[in-house]
Amino acid sequence: MLLKDKVAIITGGGRGIGRGVAVRYAKEGAKLALVDIQQAHLDETAKMLDESGTGVEYITLQADVSSSADVQDFFDATIARFGRLDVLVNNAGIGNPPVPIIDMPEEAWDRTIAVNLKSVFLCSKLAAKQYIKQGGGGRIISVSSQAGKTGFAMLTPYCASKAGVVLFTQAFAKEVGVHKINVNCVCPGTIDTPLLRGAEMGLNLDDAQFTQAISRMLPAIPLGRVGYPEDVAKIITFLASDDADYMTGQAINITGGQEMH
Ligand SMILES: NC(=O)c1ccc[n+]([C@@H]2O[C@H](COP(=O)([O-])OP(=O)(O)OC[C@H]3O[C@@H](n4cnc5c(N)ncnc54)[C@H](O)[C@@H]3O)[C@@H](O)[C@H]2O)c1
Repeated sequence: MLLKDKVAIITGGGRGIGRGVAVRYAKEGAKLALVDIQQAHLDETAKMLDESGTGVEYITLQADVSSSADVQDFFDATIARFGRLDVLVNNAGIGNPPVPIIDMPEEAWDRTIAVNLKSVFLCSKLAAKQYIKQGGGGRIISVSSQAGKTGFAMLTPYCASKAGVVLFTQAFAKEVGVHKINVNCVCPGTIDTPLLRGAEMGLNLDDAQFTQAISRMLPAIPLGRVGYPEDVAKIITFLASDDADYMTGQAINITGGQEMH
Protein backbone atom coordinates (compact mmCIF):
# COMPACT_ATOMS: atom_id res chain seq x y z
CA MET A 1 0.00 0.00 0.00
CA LEU A 2 1.42 3.34 -1.06
CA LEU A 3 -0.45 5.54 1.45
CA LYS A 4 -0.87 3.34 4.53
CA ASP A 5 -2.40 5.41 7.38
CA LYS A 6 -1.78 8.74 5.61
CA VAL A 7 -4.56 11.25 6.36
CA ALA A 8 -5.80 13.01 3.24
CA ILE A 9 -8.29 15.80 2.60
CA ILE A 10 -9.83 15.54 -0.89
CA THR A 11 -11.92 18.52 -1.96
CA GLY A 12 -14.62 17.91 -4.55
CA GLY A 13 -14.48 14.29 -3.39
CA GLY A 14 -18.15 13.72 -4.16
CA ARG A 15 -17.88 12.96 -7.85
CA GLY A 16 -15.68 12.80 -10.95
CA ILE A 17 -11.92 13.03 -10.45
CA GLY A 18 -12.24 13.60 -6.68
CA ARG A 19 -14.22 10.40 -6.30
CA GLY A 20 -11.63 8.55 -8.42
CA VAL A 21 -8.91 9.78 -6.08
CA ALA A 22 -10.94 8.78 -3.00
CA VAL A 23 -11.47 5.24 -4.29
CA ARG A 24 -7.79 4.82 -5.15
CA TYR A 25 -6.55 6.35 -1.88
CA ALA A 26 -8.87 3.96 0.01
CA LYS A 27 -7.20 1.00 -1.74
CA GLU A 28 -3.79 2.42 -0.82
CA GLY A 29 -4.65 2.51 2.91
CA ALA A 30 -5.25 6.24 3.43
CA LYS A 31 -7.74 7.78 5.87
CA LEU A 32 -9.99 10.27 4.15
CA ALA A 33 -11.77 13.57 4.77
CA LEU A 34 -14.01 14.09 1.75
CA VAL A 35 -15.22 17.64 1.18
CA ASP A 36 -17.91 18.71 -1.27
CA ILE A 37 -20.49 21.47 -1.61
CA GLN A 38 -23.13 18.86 -2.52
CA GLN A 39 -24.11 16.43 0.24
CA ALA A 40 -25.76 14.15 -2.35
CA HIS A 41 -22.43 13.74 -4.16
CA LEU A 42 -20.68 12.89 -0.88
CA ASP A 43 -23.36 10.31 -0.05
CA GLU A 44 -22.75 8.51 -3.36
CA THR A 45 -19.00 8.41 -2.85
CA ALA A 46 -19.52 7.22 0.73
CA LYS A 47 -21.66 4.35 -0.55
CA MET A 48 -18.95 3.35 -3.02
CA LEU A 49 -16.31 3.40 -0.26
CA ASP A 50 -18.54 1.33 2.06
CA GLU A 51 -18.97 -1.24 -0.70
CA SER A 52 -15.28 -1.18 -1.72
CA GLY A 53 -14.25 -3.83 0.83
CA THR A 54 -11.25 -1.70 1.82
CA GLY A 55 -12.54 -0.88 5.31
CA VAL A 56 -11.38 2.68 4.71
CA GLU A 57 -11.88 5.17 7.55
CA TYR A 58 -13.44 8.36 6.26
CA ILE A 59 -15.56 11.38 7.09
CA THR A 60 -17.64 13.50 4.75
CA LEU A 61 -17.88 17.25 5.18
CA GLN A 62 -20.23 19.51 3.29
CA ALA A 63 -18.47 22.81 2.62
CA ASP A 64 -17.74 25.48 0.04
CA VAL A 65 -13.98 25.58 -0.62
CA SER A 66 -14.15 29.27 -1.54
CA SER A 67 -15.32 30.20 2.00
CA SER A 68 -12.53 30.72 4.53
CA ALA A 69 -14.94 29.89 7.39
CA ASP A 70 -15.93 26.59 5.75
CA VAL A 71 -12.30 25.73 5.02
CA GLN A 72 -11.32 26.38 8.65
CA ASP A 73 -14.23 24.18 9.79
CA PHE A 74 -13.31 21.18 7.64
CA PHE A 75 -9.65 21.39 8.59
CA ASP A 76 -10.65 21.49 12.28
CA ALA A 77 -13.01 18.53 11.79
CA THR A 78 -10.30 16.52 10.01
CA ILE A 79 -7.69 17.11 12.73
CA ALA A 80 -10.29 16.42 15.45
CA ARG A 81 -11.12 13.06 13.86
CA PHE A 82 -7.71 11.83 12.67
CA GLY A 83 -5.23 13.88 14.75
CA ARG A 84 -3.04 14.90 11.82
CA LEU A 85 -2.84 15.65 8.10
CA ASP A 86 -0.44 14.26 5.49
CA VAL A 87 -1.96 15.05 2.09
CA LEU A 88 -4.19 17.82 0.74
CA VAL A 89 -5.78 17.30 -2.68
CA ASN A 90 -7.18 20.61 -3.97
CA ASN A 91 -9.53 19.14 -6.56
CA ALA A 92 -12.87 20.99 -6.30
CA GLY A 93 -13.48 23.15 -9.33
CA ILE A 94 -16.09 24.51 -11.71
CA GLY A 95 -16.30 25.61 -15.32
CA ASN A 96 -17.60 28.98 -16.44
CA PRO A 97 -20.61 29.92 -18.59
CA PRO A 98 -19.56 29.30 -22.22
CA VAL A 99 -19.87 32.89 -23.37
CA PRO A 100 -17.35 35.31 -24.88
CA ILE A 101 -15.49 37.48 -22.40
CA ILE A 102 -17.30 40.61 -23.67
CA ASP A 103 -20.56 39.04 -22.43
CA MET A 104 -19.12 37.41 -19.28
CA PRO A 105 -21.00 38.53 -16.15
CA GLU A 106 -18.68 39.83 -13.43
CA GLU A 107 -20.21 37.39 -10.94
CA ALA A 108 -19.30 34.42 -13.17
CA TRP A 109 -15.69 35.64 -13.35
CA ASP A 110 -15.55 36.10 -9.56
CA ARG A 111 -17.12 32.72 -8.79
CA THR A 112 -14.77 30.80 -11.12
CA ILE A 113 -11.69 32.47 -9.67
CA ALA A 114 -12.96 31.97 -6.10
CA VAL A 115 -13.76 28.26 -6.44
CA ASN A 116 -10.79 27.30 -8.64
CA LEU A 117 -8.01 29.56 -7.35
CA LYS A 118 -8.82 31.28 -4.07
CA SER A 119 -9.72 27.87 -2.63
CA VAL A 120 -6.22 26.62 -3.40
CA PHE A 121 -4.79 29.52 -1.40
CA LEU A 122 -7.20 29.00 1.53
CA CYS A 123 -6.70 25.25 1.79
CA SER A 124 -2.96 25.18 1.08
CA LYS A 125 -2.36 27.84 3.73
CA LEU A 126 -4.04 25.77 6.46
CA ALA A 127 -2.40 22.55 5.28
CA ALA A 128 1.06 24.11 5.39
CA LYS A 129 0.42 25.54 8.88
CA GLN A 130 -0.60 22.08 10.06
CA TYR A 131 2.44 20.42 8.44
CA ILE A 132 4.81 22.95 10.04
CA LYS A 133 3.16 22.38 13.43
CA GLN A 134 3.46 18.60 13.07
CA GLY A 135 7.04 18.67 11.68
CA GLY A 136 8.03 16.08 9.08
CA GLY A 137 6.58 17.74 5.99
CA GLY A 138 3.48 16.97 3.95
CA ARG A 139 2.01 17.01 0.46
CA ILE A 140 -0.15 19.52 -1.38
CA ILE A 141 -1.50 18.41 -4.75
CA SER A 142 -3.78 20.69 -6.77
CA VAL A 143 -5.83 19.88 -9.84
CA SER A 144 -5.11 22.50 -12.47
CA SER A 145 -5.87 21.73 -16.12
CA GLN A 146 -4.52 21.56 -19.63
CA ALA A 147 -6.49 24.82 -19.83
CA GLY A 148 -4.01 26.26 -17.33
CA LYS A 149 -1.26 25.93 -19.93
CA THR A 150 -3.07 26.63 -23.21
CA GLY A 151 -5.94 29.07 -23.70
CA PHE A 152 -9.35 27.87 -24.88
CA ALA A 153 -11.91 30.33 -26.29
CA MET A 154 -15.01 30.82 -24.12
CA LEU A 155 -13.15 29.40 -21.13
CA THR A 156 -11.21 32.54 -20.23
CA PRO A 157 -11.98 32.71 -16.48
CA TYR A 158 -11.42 28.96 -16.19
CA CYS A 159 -8.08 29.18 -18.03
CA ALA A 160 -6.97 32.16 -15.94
CA SER A 161 -7.89 30.37 -12.70
CA LYS A 162 -6.06 27.17 -13.70
CA ALA A 163 -2.95 29.05 -14.90
CA GLY A 164 -3.04 30.73 -11.48
CA VAL A 165 -2.94 27.30 -9.84
CA VAL A 166 0.22 26.38 -11.79
CA LEU A 167 2.07 29.52 -10.68
CA PHE A 168 0.70 29.30 -7.13
CA THR A 169 2.22 25.80 -7.08
CA GLN A 170 5.63 26.99 -8.25
CA ALA A 171 5.82 29.99 -5.92
CA PHE A 172 4.48 28.18 -2.84
CA ALA A 173 6.80 25.22 -3.46
CA LYS A 174 9.72 27.64 -3.18
CA GLU A 175 8.34 29.09 0.08
CA VAL A 176 7.73 25.85 1.93
CA GLY A 177 10.36 23.45 0.57
CA VAL A 178 12.45 24.22 3.65
CA HIS A 179 9.69 22.56 5.72
CA LYS A 180 9.79 19.40 3.53
CA ILE A 181 6.39 20.30 2.09
CA ASN A 182 6.04 19.17 -1.52
CA VAL A 183 3.64 21.28 -3.62
CA ASN A 184 2.70 19.96 -7.05
CA CYS A 185 -0.22 20.09 -9.44
CA VAL A 186 -1.65 18.02 -12.26
CA CYS A 187 -3.03 19.29 -15.55
CA PRO A 188 -5.65 16.84 -16.83
CA GLY A 189 -6.95 17.03 -20.38
CA THR A 190 -10.26 15.59 -21.53
CA ILE A 191 -11.47 13.47 -18.61
CA ASP A 192 -14.84 11.69 -18.64
CA THR A 193 -16.62 13.16 -15.60
CA PRO A 194 -20.05 14.70 -14.94
CA LEU A 195 -18.43 18.13 -15.45
CA LEU A 196 -17.34 17.20 -18.97
CA ARG A 197 -20.74 15.63 -19.67
CA GLY A 198 -22.32 19.02 -19.00
CA ALA A 199 -23.88 18.28 -15.60
CA GLU A 200 -23.61 21.90 -14.47
CA MET A 201 -25.39 23.05 -17.63
CA GLY A 202 -28.19 20.51 -17.17
CA LEU A 203 -26.98 18.40 -20.13
CA ASN A 204 -25.87 15.11 -18.48
CA LEU A 205 -24.86 13.53 -21.81
CA ASP A 206 -25.44 9.76 -22.00
CA ASP A 207 -22.73 7.46 -23.39
CA ALA A 208 -23.87 7.76 -27.01
CA GLN A 209 -24.18 11.55 -26.84
CA PHE A 210 -20.83 11.84 -25.08
CA THR A 211 -19.08 9.61 -27.62
CA GLN A 212 -20.46 11.77 -30.41
CA ALA A 213 -19.54 15.01 -28.66
CA ILE A 214 -15.92 14.02 -28.06
CA SER A 215 -15.31 12.37 -31.44
CA ARG A 216 -14.23 15.79 -32.78
CA MET A 217 -11.60 16.09 -30.05
CA LEU A 218 -10.01 12.65 -30.36
CA PRO A 219 -7.74 13.41 -33.35
CA ALA A 220 -5.95 15.98 -31.15
CA ILE A 221 -5.16 13.35 -28.49
CA PRO A 222 -2.11 11.25 -29.50
CA LEU A 223 -3.22 8.29 -27.36
CA GLY A 224 -6.60 8.39 -29.13
CA ARG A 225 -8.94 8.22 -26.15
CA VAL A 226 -10.38 10.38 -23.42
CA GLY A 227 -9.06 10.00 -19.90
CA TYR A 228 -10.89 8.65 -16.87
CA PRO A 229 -10.79 9.70 -13.22
CA GLU A 230 -8.63 6.62 -12.52
CA ASP A 231 -5.97 7.92 -14.94
CA VAL A 232 -5.72 11.14 -12.93
CA ALA A 233 -5.94 9.30 -9.59
CA LYS A 234 -2.84 7.26 -10.48
CA ILE A 235 -0.67 10.37 -10.74
CA ILE A 236 -2.25 12.02 -7.67
CA THR A 237 -1.45 8.81 -5.77
CA PHE A 238 2.15 8.88 -6.98
CA LEU A 239 2.51 12.54 -5.93
CA ALA A 240 1.29 11.67 -2.42
CA SER A 241 3.59 8.66 -2.12
CA ASP A 242 7.20 8.42 -0.96
CA ASP A 243 8.17 7.84 -4.60
CA ALA A 244 7.62 11.57 -5.25
CA ASP A 245 9.88 12.68 -2.36
CA TYR A 246 12.17 14.71 -4.59
CA MET A 247 9.50 16.44 -6.71
CA THR A 248 8.07 19.86 -6.00
CA GLY A 249 6.74 22.82 -7.97
CA GLN A 250 5.71 20.64 -10.91
CA ALA A 251 2.64 20.79 -13.16
CA ILE A 252 2.19 17.34 -14.68
CA ASN A 253 0.12 16.90 -17.84
CA ILE A 254 -2.33 13.98 -17.90
CA THR A 255 -3.76 14.53 -21.35
CA GLY A 256 -3.00 11.48 -23.47
CA GLY A 257 -0.28 13.65 -25.02
CA GLN A 258 -2.54 16.52 -26.11
CA GLU A 259 -0.55 19.00 -23.99
CA MET A 260 3.23 18.57 -23.97
CA HIS A 261 4.53 21.75 -22.32
N1 LIG B 1 -13.15 16.69 -16.38
C1 LIG B 1 -12.15 17.24 -17.04
O1 LIG B 1 -12.01 17.06 -18.26
C2 LIG B 1 -11.14 18.11 -16.31
C3 LIG B 1 -10.00 18.49 -17.02
C4 LIG B 1 -9.04 19.27 -16.38
C5 LIG B 1 -9.22 19.66 -15.07
N2 LIG B 1 -10.35 19.29 -14.41
C6 LIG B 1 -10.47 19.73 -13.01
O2 LIG B 1 -10.63 18.61 -12.18
C7 LIG B 1 -11.35 18.98 -11.01
C8 LIG B 1 -12.53 18.03 -10.84
O3 LIG B 1 -13.34 18.12 -11.99
P1 LIG B 1 -14.43 17.02 -12.38
O4 LIG B 1 -14.39 16.94 -13.86
O5 LIG B 1 -14.27 15.81 -11.55
O6 LIG B 1 -15.76 17.85 -11.98
P2 LIG B 1 -17.17 17.36 -11.37
O7 LIG B 1 -18.10 18.52 -11.53
O8 LIG B 1 -17.56 16.07 -11.97
O9 LIG B 1 -16.84 17.15 -9.82
C9 LIG B 1 -16.44 18.28 -9.03
C10 LIG B 1 -16.96 18.13 -7.61
O10 LIG B 1 -16.57 19.35 -6.92
C11 LIG B 1 -17.68 19.80 -6.17
N3 LIG B 1 -17.60 21.26 -5.99
C12 LIG B 1 -17.88 22.23 -6.90
N4 LIG B 1 -17.77 23.43 -6.34
C13 LIG B 1 -17.40 23.25 -5.05
C14 LIG B 1 -17.16 24.13 -3.97
N5 LIG B 1 -17.27 25.45 -4.11
N6 LIG B 1 -16.80 23.60 -2.78
C15 LIG B 1 -16.71 22.25 -2.62
N7 LIG B 1 -16.96 21.37 -3.61
C16 LIG B 1 -17.30 21.86 -4.82
C17 LIG B 1 -18.91 19.40 -6.99
O11 LIG B 1 -20.09 19.34 -6.20
C18 LIG B 1 -18.48 18.04 -7.53
O12 LIG B 1 -18.87 16.98 -6.68
C19 LIG B 1 -11.77 20.43 -11.22
O13 LIG B 1 -10.87 21.28 -10.56
C20 LIG B 1 -11.67 20.61 -12.72
O14 LIG B 1 -11.46 21.94 -13.10
C21 LIG B 1 -11.31 18.51 -14.99
